[in-house]
Amino acid sequence: MSHFSRRDGQLYIDNVALASLAAEHGTPAYVYSKTAISEQFLAYQNAMGEQNHLICYAVKANCSLAILNLLAKLGAGFDIVSGGELERVLAAGGQAQKIVFSGVGKSHEEITLALQTGIHCFNIESLAELERIQQIAQSLDIIAPISIRVNPDVDAGTHPYISTGLKENKFGIDIDSVLAVYQHASSLSHVMIKGVDCHIGSQLTEVAPFIDAMDRVLLLIDRLAEAGISIEHLDLGGGLGVRYQDEQPPAIGDYIRAIRQGLGTRDLCLILEPGRSIVANAGVLLSKVEYLKAAGDKRFAIVDAAMNDMLRPALYQAWLDIETVSDNTQASTDVYDIVGPVCETGDFLGKQRSLAIDEGDLLCIHSAGAYGMAMSSNYNSRPRAVEIMVDNNVAHVIRARETKADLMRGESLLPDPR
Ligand code: LLP
Repeated sequence: MSHFSRRDGQLYIDNVALASLAAEHGTPAYVYSKTAISEQFLAYQNAMGEQNHLICYAVKANCSLAILNLLAKLGAGFDIVSGGELERVLAAGGQAQKIVFSGVGKSHEEITLALQTGIHCFNIESLAELERIQQIAQSLDIIAPISIRVNPDVDAGTHPYISTGLKENKFGIDIDSVLAVYQHASSLSHVMIKGVDCHIGSQLTEVAPFIDAMDRVLLLIDRLAEAGISIEHLDLGGGLGVRYQDEQPPAIGDYIRAIRQGLGTRDLCLILEPGRSIVANAGVLLSKVEYLKAAGDKRFAIVDAAMNDMLRPALYQAWLDIETVSDNTQASTDVYDIVGPVCETGDFLGKQRSLAIDEGDLLCIHSAGAYGMAMSSNYNSRPRAVEIMVDNNVAHVIRARETKADLMRGESLLPDPR
């Protein structure tokens, strides 16, 4: 269900007019619908039915505490990729026993913290990491629960930067050589084999690559069983795509049904790590038009949000829908490139968009809930945006706009020379 509607020329998120939020809190501003996030998570949860499962929200998609807390209350587990994400999940009330720890570069410190916290599982990405985890676990005398991330060598058919399941990617261990690594793991004193893990990419718009990957992983699980290694859970990662423009990704329920069918009657706990599909279309970025500028045949709308706030168009040529927050019946419609104030040619939010706008108008950049705020930076010394969560007709600031003091925190000048 869409959580955006236009009433009397005003764009609403649930029952709050976006223009009123911009007036009160300024721009750029990220705004999320609490109901939309909950609905997406519950779509996963409900489609699982009788299937033993754990939905581990991928924190990297949007790590704001209020979002993590909302999901924790709905029963979510979490997929983390750093010690910082672990601290956030715990601060937001997430349960340690529902955390899986992914990522190719877990440091000594992060592994120690995760072991002491008692997380559900480490998703191991290399033999070297396995050895390191064994060694740290032994020194702490804690048993480390592990699964190995296998690389099933399937083409996810997505953008090369966010495709992870092919042999040439840095992720996981080649599925054809992983049996020996499992056998080695089973000989170690301080690791306990829990599962098999894979994640083949992000923004997938077909079910087929997921099922391909799962079939290969199930064959591996059979071979492990023959070798006397039993597996409790299958972690299929995240990656379900969303509609940004005209993509037609499967509905969450259809995606889960296909996976459950593929699993058949196997007694495995199914773990998923969805990020984007839970938050992307639950959030927007609000921005104000600072200037309109013509250069030759081109027209630019220079807005107050930039690539430091929303990097996806610059980094992946991502297309995000952009519309006016309030109808402007006075302005004529023109085709604009929507660009930010950052000194980079790549600083754009959208290209060649037809809009009827004047200086001072507000724009709504859609599908900004995932990998928006989470990938923001202070480039050009720009404070990061305010974040607001709307709960039906009430708005809550969940992260204050950064201040000048925030921008310079921790910095100091060199002492004067004597
Ligand atoms: N699990 C693992 C191991 C991952 O690497 C990822 C995403 C996920 C789960 C969550 O995938 P999702 O359900 O969100 O597709 N910044 C890029 C996306 C990078 C995704 C990286 N890994 C973007 O803005 O498109």
